Amino acid sequence: MFIAAAVSFYLLLMLHCPAPSSATEKSPCDTCTKLVDRFHKGLEDTSKKNFGGGNTAWEEKTLSKYETSEIRLVEIIENLCDSSDFECNVMVEEHEEQIEKWWFKMRKKYPDLRKWFCIETIEVCCPSGTYGPDCVACLGGAERPCHGNGFCSGDGTRLGDGSCRCKAEYTGPFCLECADGYFSTGRNDTHSFCSECHESCKTCNGPTNTGCKECKEGWTKGDGGCIDVDECSAETSPCKETQYCLNTEGSFSCKSKYFLHFYLSLYCL
Ligand SMILES: *[C@@H]1O[C@H](CO)[C@@H](O)[C@H](O)[C@H]1NC(C)=O
Repeated sequence: MFIAAAVSFYLLLMLHCPAPSSATEKSPCDTCTKLVDRFHKGLEDTSKKNFGGGNTAWEEKTLSKYETSEIRLVEIIENLCDSSDFECNVMVEEHEEQIEKWWFKMRKKYPDLRKWFCIETIEVCCPSGTYGPDCVACLGGAERPCHGNGFCSGDGTRLGDGSCRCKAEYTGPFCLECADGYFSTGRNDTHSFCSECHESCKTCNGPTNTGCKECKEGWTKGDGGCIDVDECSAETSPCKETQYCLNTEGSFSCKSKYFLHFYLSLYCL
């Protein structure tokens, strides 16, 4: 009975907890890219090797053969994945023949293994600046996705929808508009630059408090621009009877009078 209750409670928890987001999951392109990195590491680690021992003359004769040998390839492939890396091991198992084909036949013509293997052969990655099953250019173009002001969904993979997630300063589908709290310092068809407003502005068209279009909460339109509201000078204090009001730029805080008494009494001892 108790176990059944515990299990159903656990199931209830599972239902209410969001599934791990796909953003944190490793994409097949990540797996492939890591695999290719390990291949290059393997090439490096085996670059000084030969078939094993022997005199220099023998080495010299056979070294070149080892360089392109099946033995070397097997050594490299053995170290492509950590044993715990499930996705990597599956990928190598599924595509070992292609890796062999590249090693023996394609290497000269296609020296870039990642391009040949991940992008063109098993089709899990795209050239950078492109996304999705057919490697279509990101919004804003493949050269500078999102006009350099954001990140393109699926960039460099066969996933995503090419939409832009803009950096804090920018907004809009193409990351060309300035976000609230930022103002434009230059813009044309392809480039847009935004800088942060003064801390007193909600929106602005210049860097100081005189450039505010709207004031942030805790500030009010004054002669020269947005100025701090002294909340503590209000007829009725925003703090409790037992508290002091302390005005700060854009806000205020309440401090306990008794804490102050306590510290003063310590001080006076
Ligand atoms: C737009 O601005 C950028 C950066 O200031 C500049 O490099 C580029 O040439 C400009 N493009 C046009 C079409 O004026």
